[in-house]
Amino acid sequence: MVKAKKFILAKHFDGFPKNSDLKLLEEELPELQDGQFLLEAIYLSVDPYMRPYSRRLLKEGDVMLGQQLAKVIQSRNTNYATGSHVLTTNKVGWRSHTISRGGQDDIESQLEHYPAQIPLCKAMGILGMVGMTSYFGFIDICTPKEGETVVVNGAAGAVGSIVGQIAKIKGCRVIGFAGSDNKVKYLKDLGFDEAFNYKTIDLDETLKLAAPNGVDIYFDNVGGKFSEVVRKHMRKYGRISCCGAISQYNKQVPDSITSYDMLVVIQELKIQGFIVSSYKARYPEAFKQIAEWYLQGKINLDETITDGFENMPKAFFGLFTGDNIGKALVKT
Ligand SMILES: NC(=O)c1ccc[n+]([C@@H]2O[C@H](COP(=O)([O-])OP(=O)(O)OC[C@H]3O[C@@H](n4cnc5c(N)ncnc54)[C@H](OP(=O)(O)O)[C@@H]3O)[C@@H](O)[C@H]2O)c1
Repeated sequence: MVKAKKFILAKHFDGFPKNSDLKLLEEELPELQDGQFLLEAIYLSVDPYMRPYSRRLLKEGDVMLGQQLAKVIQSRNTNYATGSHVLTTNKVGWRSHTISRGGQDDIESQLEHYPAQIPLCKAMGILGMVGMTSYFGFIDICTPKEGETVVVNGAAGAVGSIVGQIAKIKGCRVIGFAGSDNKVKYLKDLGFDEAFNYKTIDLDETLKLAAPNGVDIYFDNVGGKFSEVVRKHMRKYGRISCCGAISQYNKQVPDSITSYDMLVVIQELKIQGFIVSSYKARYPEAFKQIAEWYLQGKINLDETITDGFENMPKAFFGLFTGDNIGKALVKT
């Protein structure tokens, strides 16, 4: 008999998420039936989308949503060998152990062809959902060209730091914004041309100096007031990839911002939002390219790993206080 742990959403988040919104429960799992297998979580992902999507997808009392990299530790299903690894869907959620029958509701992919020379945790980072997000959100939507000026915020986080590195590979000039001096140094070490602590500068003045000819590409992870300012600096035919709006996720009242409608028209800007899962059919293309860059030493994504399943809330809350550099993961 296996004792499993799980976190349920005890109460919908209201403002900044807090400990009492989540509850840790234990349950005894039954014996496996034919066709079933037992997963043990190794790495669990915490992601900003969990904040807005929990309200859209979950009822109070449901298991908190989220993806995990798990090992098959018992199996009565010939398609899932004991000892093999899988990436689950986010429906599996914050569980230490899960009984599954397979299928696309639970399993996103099996990792039997995962490159042996790449650490497994990268499957949840640079080669995972955030890698796909950076690749398609930047390359497809922003169509970068050599010499163009790129602004990315949330730049020391998972998506932002990959976008900045891809932009460098594509020959762009990259300006990154992150929330501490330590992160600014990190971005410079990654090869960003310019990096700033958005908490201590005047964004408008900074962009006048750092991008005197304007911004060709704005990869937006943050939204709100920050975006209002960057939009004013967009060059003719500029492209804006709306990836996320983390500055707004915990706000009861969203920032009231100027839309600059006429500026969008006059500058002929393209502004496009996207959801990475819409690109699922093309994940193999991004996986192949990112793995190649990674193995050539051109790109990497660090992980901030929190130990212990019990610390899932702490790791999750840390996304909103900027505790992570690179991909935030929990290791069981
Ligand atoms: N469209 C899609 O399909 C898709 C997929 C994945 C992610 N996303 C979005 O992409 C963005 C980045 O996600 P990620 O997984 O890479 O997370 P992440 O950047 O690794 O972590 C979140 C970071 O956001 C910053 N942040 C938190 N609150 C902020 C605020 N009020 N203002 C400015 N920055 C703030 C913090 O860094 P600082 O210390 O720099 O403040 C924090 O480290 C999020 O908006 C997420 O929702 C979208």
